Amino acid sequence: MVIIHHNASVTRKRRNQLNAHKSVILWFTGLSGSGKSTLAHLLEEELYTLAYRSFVLDGDNVRFGLSSDLGFSNDDRKENIRRIGEAAKLMMEAGVIVMSACISPLKADRNLIRQSLPQDDFIEIYCNSSLETCEARDVKGFYKRARAGEIKNYTGVNAPYEVPNNPELIINTESETVKESVSQIIDFLKVRKIIS
Ligand code: ADX
Repeated sequence: MVIIHHNASVTRKRRNQLNAHKSVILWFTGLSGSGKSTLAHLLEEELYTLAYRSFVLDGDNVRFGLSSDLGFSNDDRKENIRRIGEAAKLMMEAGVIVMSACISPLKADRNLIRQSLPQDDFIEIYCNSSLETCEARDVKGFYKRARAGEIKNYTGVNAPYEVPNNPELIINTESETVKESVSQIIDFLKVRKIIS
C-alpha cells in the first residue's frame, strides 16, 4: 500500500483562530463508576455555555458504534483505546476540545496516544476514586455481577487498573463534588491558555 498525507489548507491553527480557543484532548481515566462520564459531560455542558466547541467520546457510547465489534480482552481494549485516540485526534484537528471518557486501564495503551502527540495536546485526567467507593456506588450493578462471576475481566475485580504515574490532573471524585471538579479543570484550561 502506498499512501501520501494530504495537507489541508484549512488548518487546525486557523480553526482555533476562528473558534477563539485552542483544541486539545482531555483523556479521563479511572475505574468504572469513578465519575469519568459524569464529569466529562458536566464539563461539556459548561464549555458549551461558555461558547467553546467540545465533545465527549464516551466509552459506553463508542461501544455501540465505532467499537461495536470489540469486547473486554486486553487486545480488544487496546484496539478500543486506539480507535478512541485516533477519533480524538481527528476532532482535535477539527478544532474541538475533545474529552475521552473510557476506563483505559493500562498505562501502555494510554501512553501510545500520549507519545503520538506533542506534549501539550494530551491532558491525562485521573479520576481518583477507590474501588470500594466505585463498587459501593455500583450504578450499573456490574460490580455485583462481576463478583458473582457473571462478568469476566471486570476492571478492578478480575482485570487490572493501572493508576497513571504522571497525569496532568488528578481529580478526587470520591471527596469532591462534580461542580468542584469541573471548576478545577476549567481553571487548568485557563492556565494552559486553551480557553480564556
Ligand atoms: S475500556 O477498558 O475499553 O476503556 P470502556 O470504558 O470502553 O472500557 O467500557 C467500560 C464500560 O463497559 C464500563 O463502564 C461498564 O459499564 C462496561 N463493561 C462491561 N464489561 C466490562 C468489563 N469486563 N470491564 C470493564 N467494564 C465493562
